[in-house]
Amino acid sequence: NNQVAPPVSARIPDYACQRHTPLQHHNTKFTDALEILEKYADLRYDDQDYSRALAFRRASCVLKSLSRPLSRLSEIQNVTHIGSHSQKVIQEILEDGTSEEVEKICADPWFQKMKLFTAIFGIGPARAKEFIAKGWSSIQEVRDGCTSSDWRIQWGLAFHEDLTTPVTRAEADYILGVVRRHVDRVLPGAVMELTGGFRRGKQTGHDVDILIMHPLENKIIGALPRLLQSLQSHDIVLCGRHERSTYHEELLTQNTKLSPRGQLDHFEKWIGIIKVPNKIRIKNDQSDKTSSHQLGNNKCNTDMKENKDKCENRNFQSDKNTDSCKRDVGNESVLYQRQEDTLDSGSAISDSLEDVWESLDKASSSSSPSHGNPREVKASQGDWIARRVDLIISPFSQFFYALVGWTGSKQFNRDARTYAEREMNMKLSSHGLYDFNQGKQLVASSEREVFDNLKLPYFEPQDRNC
Ligand code: CTP
Ligand code: MN
Ligand code: MN
Ligand code: MN
Repeated sequence: NNQVAPPVSARIPDYACQRHTPLQHHNTKFTDALEILEKYADLRYDDQDYSRALAFRRASCVLKSLSRPLSRLSEIQNVTHIGSHSQKVIQEILEDGTSEEVEKICADPWFQKMKLFTAIFGIGPARAKEFIAKGWSSIQEVRDGCTSSDWRIQWGLAFHEDLTTPVTRAEADYILGVVRRHVDRVLPGAVMELTGGFRRGKQTGHDVDILIMHPLENKIIGALPRLLQSLQSHDIVLCGRHERSTYHEELLTQNTKLSPRGQLDHFEKWIGIIKVPNKIRIKNDQSDKTSSHQLGNNKCNTDMKENKDKCENRNFQSDKNTDSCKRDVGNESVLYQRQEDTLDSGSAISDSLEDVWESLDKASSSSSPSHGNPREVKASQGDWIARRVDLIISPFSQFFYALVGWTGSKQFNRDARTYAEREMNMKLSSHGLYDFNQGKQLVASSEREVFDNLKLPYFEPQDRNC
């Protein structure tokens, strides 16, 4: 077949949320290089000029969505998001296999130290630069010299090796199972989703993101502190911080500025570190070497079976063709039917909400950031590994927007939000979608409806890996 394929540029939509972006794609030799340039620009120029980093990320995103390997620069010369700098790098790689500029950056000691230090939980570029200015170049030097009282940095330093060992899919499933057992106790009827990179099909991640909701709008009040208390009483939690919701309805229309490194949302959440038995990860390692990740799933069978029973008990349709309801979804629109609130709805509740939260804050002294001294805990560590977990709790009415937001990727969200604003005159966030044309919120009772409301074709989570 010597027919020339049509130029790829003719078929590339402007926004990443309009393109299939699978995890496995055909242009890694370019995207790896562009992502190094992105990272470098992010660390070097960070808050002053994030657009430099974004330009490389956009170019990389386009290449990830191509259905075949790029063979000539001319194929992408007119693509909006591939600027001249990115084109130069792509051209270099097409000719020589590598880019000199990228090689130089990789060998740059400053870059290596910045990557090392910003990988510490709680450390951002600003503090990493302070460490370098002090002449530090290893984690041990930071451990010896850093006097920060920030709980994240203290635990991040003590458990750095644990936290930079990739979390496996089997561990994510295990954590989901553990959290589910406790959720079932403190918030019966709740629905949970594993979100973040794992939902997009990644086999490893840096943390586990779990979104929780209840079909009764007001049931979630007070549930997260109860959940944490339950987890803590079983000695699962190492440290963490409970953040109360800062949501109010005006946020739906307000022009909130997004922080350069991700979207801020206003959900009640918990950010912390929990313990996972080593055997969970080791089983997954074996499965990676043999056939797919089946072994990894097997070890969760008891959890899953138990969960399935529970799902059926509470009238949530589990996927009967598999032995699990680990994503709680068979047909999501059936699964997530809203139930009538038994509480008085509306203003009475929002009036009392402040009081509820205040009393929760008082009561949650037990969910204070840390439990014991991080170094001492590390020194007496048993047969477990520390894992970063994010628990987010959403009211039913915001759930599907929260699900899209917490599934990501970050770039997918960024483009979906820009698309909503520029093309639709709407404002999209993890809390909802506001249509300025109609002057009202657009509700969604499935993930598909979020896309429908935006007049976007639906993309599965696996195709949102931009
Ligand atoms: N997110 C968000 N608001 C935050 C933090 C994260 O909306 N305050 C979103 C991110 O945009 C991302 C998802 O939640 O889409 C998960 O965030 P994160 O765990 O940082 O990224 P992952 O894509 O899961 O990557 P990894 O596998 O490294 O965890
Ligand atoms: Mn960091
Ligand atoms: Mn994640
Ligand atoms: Mn996360």
